[in-house]
Amino acid sequence: MTLIFSHRGASREAPENTMSAFYKALQYGVDGIEIDVQLSKDGVPVIIHDESLKRTTGAKGNVSDYMADDLRKLDAGSWFHHDYALERIPLLEEFLAWAAHTSLQLNIELKNNIIPYEGIEHKVYALARQYNMTDRIVFSSFNHYSIRALRLLDPDIDLAPLYSSGLYEPWNYVRYLGARSAHPHYKTLFPEIMQGYKIAGITLRPYTVNSKRWLSYFFKWQADAVITDDPGLACSLRDSLQK
Ligand code: G3P
Ligand code: MG
Repeated sequence: MTLIFSHRGASREAPENTMSAFYKALQYGVDGIEIDVQLSKDGVPVIIHDESLKRTTGAKGNVSDYMADDLRKLDAGSWFHHDYALERIPLLEEFLAWAAHTSLQLNIELKNNIIPYEGIEHKVYALARQYNMTDRIVFSSFNHYSIRALRLLDPDIDLAPLYSSGLYEPWNYVRYLGARSAHPHYKTLFPEIMQGYKIAGITLRPYTVNSKRWLSYFFKWQADAVITDDPGLACSLRDSLQK
């Protein structure tokens, strides 16, 4: 069965990458949640997508300009709806402490393709170990040096390079990185690429699959997972196509 990962939580129902979005994703019955992680100025892993704080908090500057305590004072919900004014930028630790009591799989994306956060791989990995959750986390990144760095930290964890362009025989590159999963942009996944990945035995979780047409395509291919903004649609389509 194709697993369903909710992208940034249930990001159409609640402000993305907030605890409310994660609670709502769990209520949908998804298999997993995808989150984006960056570091505060004092090196604390926090959950937020953009490097700039502007869009989701209205604050000036970047995540990396603020100490974690100051990031926690920002309103991360009002941009979405005034009902969410009390929403805060979650700490990765807070998220893991909550997820540890669920059966969710987690996709932690290291968001360091623009700002090269020193030591982010080790900090995120250490927290995953602390919560004893490495066996249900896949670590992904557009920065493939981070995939290599994580592999050197642990030979067993699930790693997935993210990419968005038409790589030639990408399964060979994925193996070369030492990963056993790949998270490509869904539009790169022509049937011959799907077939190549299947033969190579690489776990495939395309992002961000929101339309009925593309969700059906991946369900028919029995993709390992899809990462979606629309967990409701994905769950009902999967019920009709795979059960
Ligand atoms: O991890 C899949 C997806 O989240 C990658 O793109 O920009 O939404 O983080 P983005
Ligand atoms: Mg992401």
